[in-house]
Amino acid sequence: MIQGHSYERLLEISKRVNWRVEDIIGPDKPMDFSKPFLPETFARTGELDFLSPAERLKLNQIRGFGYLAMFELVERCILPAIEEHVPSRPGQDPHRTAALQNFAHEEAKHIELFVRFRKAFTDGFDVACGVIGPAEDIGAAIRGHGKLGVALFVLAIEWATQQHWLESVQDDEGLDPQIKSLLRHHWMEESQHAKLDALVFYELAEKAGPDGVMQAVEEFLRIGAFIDGGLAQQAELDLDAFERATGRRLTGGQRAQFIASQHQAQRWTFLGSALVNQGFLKALGEISPAGRARLEEVAPAFC
Ligand SMILES: [Fe+2]
Ligand SMILES: [Fe+2]
Repeated sequence: MIQGHSYERLLEISKRVNWRVEDIIGPDKPMDFSKPFLPETFARTGELDFLSPAERLKLNQIRGFGYLAMFELVERCILPAIEEHVPSRPGQDPHRTAALQNFAHEEAKHIELFVRFRKAFTDGFDVACGVIGPAEDIGAAIRGHGKLGVALFVLAIEWATQQHWLESVQDDEGLDPQIKSLLRHHWMEESQHAKLDALVFYELAEKAGPDGVMQAVEEFLRIGAFIDGGLAQQAELDLDAFERATGRRLTGGQRAQFIASQHQAQRWTFLGSALVNQGFLKALGEISPAGRARLEEVAPAFC
């Protein structure tokens, strides 16, 4: 047991929480396209003062679609990384394998959840929105890094989903109720994932030693830089979708402002919100205060 968490207890909580995709999204639960899909802290459409309120709403919804696509992509990347850790060695916690198997099962369910929401969006929105990919290639490139760096990346994502619900979405009364429901249900299961992934991270970190952990922190930052390149491309795709959805062609200066502001908004959504999360920093800091300090040093660039 580490940090007061045990595989047995986390598995028990997961079994209690366990929800079904069909209870969250379906024909009787449509998305409301008169409402924003992301909180302003993520969408940051207010920074683009040349947009009308209706255009800001369109951009917000395009960013909502990007959020669904990015999480589907990340979950597809995470699933094989979790599955790799499922087998336990003799002498390890007797509940370890069952808890990690359940963790992987939940991530597979989350992929289905994001796929269903993407379809609901596509069915109701004016134009097709582009997403970076292929997801398999991006996932393989991320998993091509060292195991400990990848485990740290997974841990960051698990904590980011909690940060998203608790800090940005929970109290936002203007959002589409369906999107709020998605983020709430995702958070309910990710709460256990963050603790399970910390247990796996600690196992690997103990073997790697302090220098190995610092190397993993640098690998994690390389994964972050790789994703950041993808987010810059995503901002271009969002601009294209925005112009098609609104029929408005932005000027050169407006396009540059759009890309710079939206790229930074995506950085915060997917990277910065993890880097400042106290749960994530605490989990890393307990094993490597120097690693935590390194992440705190780079975090402002992603906020
Ligand atoms: Fe998930
Ligand atoms: Fe997860």
